[in-house]
Amino acid sequence: MNVAGTPRRTIWVESDGWSVGIIDQTRLPHGFVTLRLTDVGEAAHAISAMLVRGAPLIGATAAYGVCLALRQDASDAALDRAYETLVKTRPTAINLRWALDAMRAHLAPLKPADRVQAAYAKAKAIADEDVAINRAIGEHGLGLIRAAAKRRPGETINVLTHCNAGWLATVDWGTATAPIYLAHEAGIKVHVWVDETRPRNQGASLTAWELNNHGVPHTVIVDNTGGHLMQHGQVDLCFVGTDRTTAQGDVCNKIGTYLKALAAKDNGVPFYVCLPSPSIDWTINDGMKEVPIEQRAGDEVSRITGRTDDGRIETVTITPQGSPVANYAFDVTPARLVTGLVTERGICAASRDGLLGLFPERRPNR
Ligand code: MRU
Repeated sequence: MNVAGTPRRTIWVESDGWSVGIIDQTRLPHGFVTLRLTDVGEAAHAISAMLVRGAPLIGATAAYGVCLALRQDASDAALDRAYETLVKTRPTAINLRWALDAMRAHLAPLKPADRVQAAYAKAKAIADEDVAINRAIGEHGLGLIRAAAKRRPGETINVLTHCNAGWLATVDWGTATAPIYLAHEAGIKVHVWVDETRPRNQGASLTAWELNNHGVPHTVIVDNTGGHLMQHGQVDLCFVGTDRTTAQGDVCNKIGTYLKALAAKDNGVPFYVCLPSPSIDWTINDGMKEVPIEQRAGDEVSRITGRTDDGRIETVTITPQGSPVANYAFDVTPARLVTGLVTERGICAASRDGLLGLFPERRPNR
């Protein structure tokens, strides 16, 4: 998508042909800073410290992390070490394991001498596939926005989104934002309610920054506003992303997603999850019991960073000294609260049958 009019992706190979460029997302929205990753340790740090974040981008960064590791040592042991280092960086988004499994399956059978080139080619394929998947999700989701616009001719369609499931969370397009960008390009009047998404404010800092750059009308709201807006007919559709969706359609996403889904159900607002297939964990069913929920450092809750009026970036503490804090990064929305899953192959019910209808190759004993 565009940054100051220039199309960009969130991850790329630099002009030296091997180091990996990323956008340091911890500096947004006040600074646009790019960084070069030069070894697997830096790639692992970029993921765990959330310089890059969002399930699909975590997967792509891990894939390039394997490339950086193999450049230094292409042995079997080094491949295993890179896998183990990277897979531990964040526990919830399944795309991380998916990308690492794909890299290892592709590279392990090769002779060490052939691995580096093959690794870069495979990482590029994973990144390119993510772009194509998100674009396809956008086309399917666009149909939902078009249908809403048809029901209310001439009126603005209000979409509520949580966290950042935008292009910054993927390689390009985003998942929840792809239909919004396409609707905007198609001349449909669309406006986005952006949940700020405490504690790290991915909505206020990242989604708002993206939409602003792209000229999409939007309004940042505090996380508790969505229910009120839904009660007053101010939300036509909810679109959110996912870090892991189970085989029965339970959706794990950024903390607070569940509360939006409850409010949407109570108010008859359609609640869609934009779901790239690498975010499906076919090995588990019950999201509430089986998805590992990341707990992050308490200072993400007790401290907040922003820009002062005179342009300095400052971090301040907002809780009393000594008050304990808890920082659950994700929650699970049960399938029964989800209107539909918007995948690259089309839209389906949030259920085992719905998912298997679109991904029949996953049926057992085929
Ligand atoms: O902690 P984050 O910022 O990595 O969480 C990101 C989300 O929860 C996104 O909604 C999810 O990864 C989907 S991204 C297309």
